[in-house]
Parts: sequence; C-alpha cells; structure tokens
Amino acid sequence: MSNRMWGGRFGGGPDDIMEEINASIGFDQRLFAQDIRGSLAHCAMLADNQIISQQDADEICNGLKTILADIEAGNFTFSRALEDIHMNIEARLAELIGPTAGRLHTARSRNDQVATDFRLYVRDTIDHLSGQIVALIGALVAKAETHADTIMPGFTHLQSAQPVTFGHHLLAYVEMLSRDHGRLVDARKRLNESPLGAAALAGTGFPIDRHQTAEALGFDRPTANSMDSVSARDFALETMSAAAICATHLSRLAEEIVVFASPGFGFFNLPDAYSTGSSIMPQKRNPDAAELVRAKSGRIIGALNGLLIVMKGLPLAYSKDMQEDKEGTFNALDSLSLCLAAMTGMMETMTINADAMREAAGRGFSTATDLADWLVREAGLPFRDAHHVTGALVALAEAEGTELAALSLAQMQQADARITEDVFTVLSVENSVASRTSHGGTAPDNVRAAVAVWTAQLADMGDA
Ligand code: ARG
Repeated sequence: MSNRMWGGRFGGGPDDIMEEINASIGFDQRLFAQDIRGSLAHCAMLADNQIISQQDADEICNGLKTILADIEAGNFTFSRALEDIHMNIEARLAELIGPTAGRLHTARSRNDQVATDFRLYVRDTIDHLSGQIVALIGALVAKAETHADTIMPGFTHLQSAQPVTFGHHLLAYVEMLSRDHGRLVDARKRLNESPLGAAALAGTGFPIDRHQTAEALGFDRPTANSMDSVSARDFALETMSAAAICATHLSRLAEEIVVFASPGFGFFNLPDAYSTGSSIMPQKRNPDAAELVRAKSGRIIGALNGLLIVMKGLPLAYSKDMQEDKEGTFNALDSLSLCLAAMTGMMETMTINADAMREAAGRGFSTATDLADWLVREAGLPFRDAHHVTGALVALAEAEGTELAALSLAQMQQADARITEDVFTVLSVENSVASRTSHGGTAPDNVRAAVAVWTAQLADMGDA
C-alpha cells in the first residue's frame, strides 16, 4: 500500500526493512501530548488568520481533543506503517472527521512540527528535573543542618587530610547541584523559542502568525530563521550536557555513599528501602541504588556523545538523521530523573554513624596542619619550618603507635623548644573544625550560616 500522506507521487509501499528503519513511532509516541498541543495552537492560528474556516478548525480541534483523551486512556493503536506520532495522529483525525483533517497540515511540515514537539517535551522535562534538583537540595540542606557539628575526616586523594564537618561536606554537593539547576534554567531560556511555522525549511506563503502560536505554546518568541528552526538540536544537546554534568555530580555522591557505607568506613547506614541483600551471604547489605546512580551517569554521558556525533557535519536543513535525537535524549533525561529521585530518597532515609565519623576524623594525624599553624601563629615559625617540625612529630607519633595529642610536652619540645602546653588546645578535631571560619570554611558556625542562606535561596529556586 502506498503511503496516504505522499501517495500522489508514490506507486508502491516501502519494503518491510525500510519501514523498520524509518519508523519512529516506537519511541516518539511519547510526544503525543506535545504534538496535540502544537496542533491545537496551529489550528486556532490558521482559523484566526482566515487560512482555514472556523468551522473546520472547530472540527479539527475537537477531533484532536478526542485523540488526546483516547491516547491518555490507552485507547489508541499506534501503527508502524504510519511511521511517526505526527502521521499517526493525523491519520486518526481523518478517520474521526474525514477529509477536513487534511487542512490541519496547511503551512506546516513535519520538520517544524517535530522541532516544536521536541522543544516542548524537553522544556517540560527541564521543569520537572529542576524541581527534582530543588527537592534534592532541600534534603541535603536539611541533613547539613542536622549535622552542622558532626565531625568527619576530610579527604584528599582519599587519604585522611583534615577534619571537616559532615554538614559542610553535604553543602559542597548543594553548591554543585545549584549550578546544575542554573544550567538547566539557562538551557530553558535559549530553548524557549517556537520553530512552528518554519514549515519544511523556508517558511510559508500563507499569512500565518508565528507570534500567536509561539505565545499560545508558552514560548517567548518565534525563532528568527526558518532553516535554523528545523535543523537546530542544540537545545537538546545543551540540556543533555547539563544533565550529564548533574549525573556526574550524582555519581560522585553515589560513590561516597558506597564507600562510606562499607564496613571499612561504617559512616552511613543505608536503609532497607535503598539496599539489597545477597542471595548467598546473609550478612550483606549492598548499596545497589547508589551503585546504579554511579553507573547511570555512563548512559547519560553516552547519550550526549551520541547526539553530538549525529549532529556533527549534518548539512542544513532537516535530515532524517535527526530522528535519532529522541531515544538517547529520552533515556538520558529519564535516567537523570530516576537518579535524582533515588538520591533524594537515600539522603532522606540513610542514617549517620557520627561516632564512627568522629573516631576516623581523629585518626591519621588529621590535626597536623593545626599544629603547624599553631607553630606559625604562637611560636613565630615560618610555615615551611613549622611544616618540618610537625612532620618530625608525626613521624615520632607514628613510631610510637600513638596520636599527636598523646605525645608529651617534653617530646614536643625536643622537636622545637618553643612549643608550650598551649599547643594541646589545637590538637582536637573539635578545635580544628571550629577554627576554620574563613569564608567558605568548614566551621560549624559557617555551616549554620550557609544553611540559612540556602534555605532562603530554595524558596526562589522553587519559583524559577
Ligand atoms: N519522525 C521524524 C523525526 O523524528 C519527523 C520529521 C520527519 N520529517 C521528514 N521530512 N521526514 O525527525
């Protein structure tokens, strides 16, 4: 059977393999709501500008609404022979209202139609993801507030470096996620122009009103160049790149959950709801959700790469290559959404073993910098000399199998005679973190101040 949309030119139908490679209905059916939204706006505009009659427009719009309700109710049979969502809906419209359906496609092409649908879809998804990021930030800020004073080891090279507060550690992720949020909000601003009415690539001779459809669909304005309108996919690339960066942040937090929940650390206890057992080892509690968040960044980054490669070197304007934009984007954005939900759930439910954190924070000579700083401040040593003296004391403590604070004053003074009893006041982890009050430092008071700033900020981000 020849295709009813272009049967005028074609005698025969496509080969079965052609149909299989060509069809996108298997994945683009999820654009149905955006497709109908776009068609309703287009139809109303056509009538308002006397391009079609009001009566035809009413019939078309009623038919489209019926189709929307049918698809939502699961009463719609998608057909591969009809290739994509646009032609599936148009064909059904013709079944419902007859030849009038054919007037809907006046001054429009599937090229501007799919560009419009996809922009609307990505925009809706950005809004959803932004809200999810705000929710995760909220969960992190709440935990940071609870743990403003909780001391843990801070690491560099995953070696114990200096004590930090757990609240401060969590707020580092809040910073990352707020930038992720900002990137999505930015992507949305550039995305928010309507390609509808660009038609196939050159615009149209019909007296359409692209400002009207742009406004009806919540776009800020129509796109300025018809060829760019149908061939641009950088809105998807930009959104996916923001998604990939966000996924990378989530994967780092996920890795820390895996590490810190392991028996070797024992800082976090994962709840039953976000872990699994082993079918053979009864003692096991595995952080599967965190591992999968860590791993799913792979497919999100992969999807971004995939679309970059599809778009690279494509001539203007539309090419069917661009149909390959959807599956990866859907998958990447779905995955990020799931990761955000899982991470928020983990953050809300996992419990913290503050004693294990505090204990670990004191190990590994973590206050050696505080000792060196004391030598600079109180004994007047240049920092490099202070570093040397402290290094000798660390070596001594290590040789004796003890901690810096457990050395005697006499032992300290052997390393440098200027050391006094006062030095012991700076060797506790509590003192160490409390002293780090520089802007952006880890002190509990800083954490509380940052929590207050974020709490105020969260209200604005919700509105963004
Ligand atoms: N299914 C197509 C896509 O996703 C719709 C646009 C088709 N346009 C065309 N001229 N064949 O890109």
